[in-house]
Amino acid sequence: MTSTSSRSLAVLLDGWRDGDSSAYRALAARIRLLAVDGRIASGSRLPAERELALALGVSRTTVTAAYADLRSSDHLRSVRGSGSVLELPLPPTGGTTAVPVLDLTRAVLPRAPQVLPAAVRAAVALGDRGGSGYDLLGDDGLRRLVAERYTARGLPTGPHQVLITLGAQHAIGLLFRTGTTPGDRVLVESPSYPHALDAVRAVGARPVTVPVRAATATDPGGWDPEALETAFARARPALGYLMPSFHNPTGAVMPQAQRRAVVELARRFGTRLVVDETTAELAIDVPAPAPFPDDVVHIGSVAKTLWGGLRIGWIRADTQTVRHLTRHRSPWELGTPVLDQLTVAEALPGIDAVLADRREQLRTGRDTLLGLLADDLPEWGRPLVAGGFCAWVNLGAEVSSAVVVAAARRGLQLTAGPRFGVDGAFERFLRVPFGYAPGVLEAAVPILVEAWAEARRSGPDLVVPADVI
Ligand SMILES: Cc1ncc(COP(=O)(O)O)c(C=O)c1O
Repeated sequence: MTSTSSRSLAVLLDGWRDGDSSAYRALAARIRLLAVDGRIASGSRLPAERELALALGVSRTTVTAAYADLRSSDHLRSVRGSGSVLELPLPPTGGTTAVPVLDLTRAVLPRAPQVLPAAVRAAVALGDRGGSGYDLLGDDGLRRLVAERYTARGLPTGPHQVLITLGAQHAIGLLFRTGTTPGDRVLVESPSYPHALDAVRAVGARPVTVPVRAATATDPGGWDPEALETAFARARPALGYLMPSFHNPTGAVMPQAQRRAVVELARRFGTRLVVDETTAELAIDVPAPAPFPDDVVHIGSVAKTLWGGLRIGWIRADTQTVRHLTRHRSPWELGTPVLDQLTVAEALPGIDAVLADRREQLRTGRDTLLGLLADDLPEWGRPLVAGGFCAWVNLGAEVSSAVVVAAARRGLQLTAGPRFGVDGAFERFLRVPFGYAPGVLEAAVPILVEAWAEARRSGPDLVVPADVI
């Protein structure tokens, strides 16, 4: 069982007091948030009440009451001999909750209408199939279609270079497990996709971070070239995981010259470069960038184009790597279901129409969200987002967790900035996904306005972001 020391919990709880609720409720709410967004792993032991009270400079009664509050919401369990263990309660089954919940934590896009007819055609095609219905390498027809798409995007690819996975997250886990040993350094962006950071931790690797900024009217944003060079040269990472095309969460796109430079750095310092292209075709204002060169490992997924519910992704690599990964899958799972693969194979030939719809849907979502934020929260920064599915908003004050807690109390769930960083960075930022219907965003923003007002009442001073003009 992992333990969280009072000192590290106090760091994670920085700024936990909010304006309106009593101290114990504010403390419980912030610990709950740390559990929900994964900053403290479920199953971790929390410090003893007295130690935490000392570390936070509050009375023991406050911590006792906060722990009791967490117990009553099923977020804390007393285990004999182990103290208080944090856990996530099971989601409710049926029934109604008091406050209707707008869940913007998952950043999902609605299912593309093309999926249902593709699933029907796939079900018919399944009639001719025998076999086990799942496999480690992937359906030949689907691998061919994925390979053809890379070729059409400018990277000649054969089916033997494609491994079908259970979504992009599975691909990340598989590559990290097979491509690193504990203690290895892995280069990641800061901020990064939270579950990729989880995967770095899960394999016992050490993250080496490279900053990425969202573009604004006063800053082109993106990857700092010097930081990239230094990270490769000093850390000589075993693996580098990047999202160069509509980076999650900043939406940044790496320019062509920098792509060439990064590939050169990876070659020079012996780093296996992995680019996650889950969001690469979610272009709104600029063309979708082409893939990287042949020696770079590519991850792809239909989660943001067709539907996340299909759980189909892939890895594009050299034949030897594909074989190696296939051989090493089975300790964790036994293969990808054929029906999902056939559904994707039925839908992929029509992917350009799906992407055209996505572009319009994301454009509407982005313009609605950024318009509402500019009108109703004029103090917040204004990122320029050319593609992807979310806005990385500079709040101008280190209150992201407090805003998220206050919003959750009003029925809006979001992921706080620090979930996207290593070691609790980004308390000044909030990721707001916009792949939802305008009505959802119109319902969410007034809640954000109230949550912001509540967090600001006791929060740190506001430093108006430079791009607010
Ligand atoms: C950059 C990135 N990689 C991977 C994933 C996970 O994708 P999948 O649902 O295919 O596992 C996501 C999902 O949001 C993502 O944004």
